Amino acid sequence: MNVMFDECPTMLVCSCNYITDKEIKAVITEMLDEDCWQLIVPGKVYHAMGKRGRCCGCFPNVVDLIIRTTEEYHALRKTEETKVINFMERLKQFHEEQKAALAERRQALTASRRAAG
Ligand code: FES
Repeated sequence: MNVMFDECPTMLVCSCNYITDKEIKAVITEMLDEDCWQLIVPGKVYHAMGKRGRCCGCFPNVVDLIIRTTEEYHALRKTEETKVINFMERLKQFHEEQKAALAERRQALTASRRAAG
């Protein structure tokens, strides 16, 4: 267990799979230990846990956890600041694009369901 996350109460993030924020943060930290510059996405985190997104309603919160955990990870290890700033900008931009794509898919799905009756 990572001591970095023990101070906060546990929060359920994914109600479909019953996954908590601490479980997600632990997996993200393990991934960062393997390669601290890899792009982590919710699907990759869930795959590592042997789970998969069902409704994917939790994905925006998982993205926030990925960004926050990655920032905390580099802050604790005192990674060179300019490298972290560049990486975090790319990571945030990537996730913003992912959020927009997910919202677009949801709108299209909702529209097709309404059209079907
Ligand atoms: S709430 Fe996580 S997949 Fe549905």
